[in-house]
Amino acid sequence: MTAVRLEGLTKRFGAVAAVDAVDLSIDSGEFVVLVGPSGSGKTTCLRMIAGLEAVTSGSIFIGDRDVATVHAKDRDVAMVFQSYALYPHMSVTDNMGFALKLKKVPRDEIYRRVRDVAAILGITEELPRKPKTLSGGQQQRVALGRAIVRDPAVFLFDEPLSNLDAKLRMAMRGELIKLHHRLSATMIYVTHDQTEAMTMGDRIVVMNEGRIQQIGTPLAVYDNPDNMFVAGFIGSPTMNLIDGTVEPADGAAVFRAGDLVLRLPPTHAAARGRAVTLGIRPEFLALEADGEAVGLDCRVDAVEHLGAETILELSSEGPLLTAKTIRNDGIRHGDTVRLVTDPLKVLAFDTETGVRLRA
Ligand SMILES: Nc1ncnc2c1ncn2[C@@H]1O[C@H](COP(=O)(O)OP(=O)(O)OP(=O)(O)O)[C@@H](O)[C@H]1O
Ligand SMILES: [Mg+2]
Repeated sequence: MTAVRLEGLTKRFGAVAAVDAVDLSIDSGEFVVLVGPSGSGKTTCLRMIAGLEAVTSGSIFIGDRDVATVHAKDRDVAMVFQSYALYPHMSVTDNMGFALKLKKVPRDEIYRRVRDVAAILGITEELPRKPKTLSGGQQQRVALGRAIVRDPAVFLFDEPLSNLDAKLRMAMRGELIKLHHRLSATMIYVTHDQTEAMTMGDRIVVMNEGRIQQIGTPLAVYDNPDNMFVAGFIGSPTMNLIDGTVEPADGAAVFRAGDLVLRLPPTHAAARGRAVTLGIRPEFLALEADGEAVGLDCRVDAVEHLGAETILELSSEGPLLTAKTIRNDGIRHGDTVRLVTDPLKVLAFDTETGVRLRA
């Protein structure tokens, strides 16, 4: 097991900093997910760790050794890509054993390791077959198996599940998590899919424009986003972000956006007089239950039934809002509803800088 530490890791392509001074410590045996929108520098970061992309500046420690200038094959990492890149003319056995063959591992040892890993991944039957005769899911397992037989110090995954259909992707997420527990290996996993990040990571690293926005456990990041970018990126449906102003009222603070008026907890009093964006998770908007009324009559524009939950798209004389409630069979498009929320669950951000306003 091996820890990984990135210090000031930077990659420029011309004037663009694809990865900009990234500092990140990953514990031995940890499963860390880099997540961010397209172009945020995730793949570039991973490729630098793998040794497939030269660094512009900074260090990459794998264990105690700075490998920033070490050749890829001497870094003891294995990378699994979105495209499985299997050798088409080789059997599954030979695909999985190829790296060991290059390392001159004895044949019997290679076959033993390939068979063991194939059993873990449930592809024993497929060992004699050629890749093109396999389904996408089976090919994905072979690509994974090829990495596992090498027994690397660090696994790197770049969106390995994105070519699979939704159901198989969910199943493979669960299998990868179990595999991680079984191997107790250090794993760095890249995805643009926040659900994948939330469900898989011990910790997630949210990236945007080459920079780390926040690092934390999935629920810590979900509950306590440091800035508006993270608040809007993590969570589905997306957090309601409502632009308005905070005004003083009887020693407290009141937020206004169109007809929306919300008394804020005293912790937000410092925001008085400022342009503020409030963040309210859809699940914290409810229909006339206990709690302080948001003071907003809304029209129901769309009702989405997910089974256990119902998503409501709402419009008002102020912001557009999304609410998530427990299953609600009665509500219809065109209904008028009154919303309530718990002011203590409401987050506030500086509209200009996006920085979270805290007590
Ligand atoms: N070889 C290259 N030459 C020039 N620019 C590049 C090169 N590779 C990446 N970039 C740029 O670096 C930035 C980060 O790209 P990167 O592929 O790391 O993003 P990503 O987060 O993996 O995105 P995606 O989710 O789309 O895979 C982008 O602006 C991209 O255009
Ligand atoms: Mg990428």
